[in-house]
Amino acid sequence: MLIPSILVNEHYDDRYFDVVNAIHEAKQVFFRGAKILEKLALQDELIIGETGFGSGRMLLAFLDYLKENAITNKRIIWNSVELHPLSPNRIREILKCFSETHADLITLLSSNYESLHINGNGWYFCTINTGSCTLELRLRIGEALEMVTELERPCVAWFLDGHGPKKNPLMWRQELLNAIGIKTTDNGTFATYTVAGIVKRGLQNAGFTISTIPGCGGKKESLCGWK
Ligand SMILES: C[S@@+](CC[C@H](N)C(=O)[O-])C[C@H]1O[C@@H](n2cnc3c(N)ncnc32)[C@H](O)[C@@H]1O
Repeated sequence: MLIPSILVNEHYDDRYFDVVNAIHEAKQVFFRGAKILEKLALQDELIIGETGFGSGRMLLAFLDYLKENAITNKRIIWNSVELHPLSPNRIREILKCFSETHADLITLLSSNYESLHINGNGWYFCTINTGSCTLELRLRIGEALEMVTELERPCVAWFLDGHGPKKNPLMWRQELLNAIGIKTTDNGTFATYTVAGIVKRGLQNAGFTISTIPGCGGKKESLCGWK
């Protein structure tokens, strides 16, 4: 399949997400893997961590997930980090591939992203009101370890989405995974699409019990776990 060049992160020579069913993949691999619905049933506030904001596809899928599951009156705190932030226009262009089904949410997300006025390293904040829930986006522009160590409160779920370990070993280094382990609540969860041995061992060393679940988009397995 021909990959549109707009989807390729030139810093890693890798796609921001898989072109096939990327919203479905986020729900199956990341939200199901990290047991998001179970957590939403028990808590009014959910603190989430994401490594690699990229194009915002994961957040778009999450907003859709809340809607699809008729989730109301929740406060979501979405901590994320990005070393190479995209312009609002590029985000709009990338997310266009979901516009047939998600036009309203793309407008909501991209206008909020634009309102951040990203102009260098540091924290950027906005509150996205979905009509039934509020989601506070706390985006750290900088390196993932900076974001994780600066978090004041631990996360109940982590979405580890920082390109695979072959393309981007820095995102899977033990120091970072240990920091993520420390910034996870007891019984907190993680999910990721990669099942590479180095990632499995790194997450186990960081205090997580791991398991595999069926993958998506041609991948046999994906990885999830809890602390
Ligand atoms: C696979 S893409 C993210 C996809 C994103 N979650 C989405 O759904 O669009 C991984 C992202 O991590 C960012 N990244 C890679 N290494 C990083 C690092 N060390 N610190 C912070 N961000 C990093 C990349 O620039 C890229 O945008």
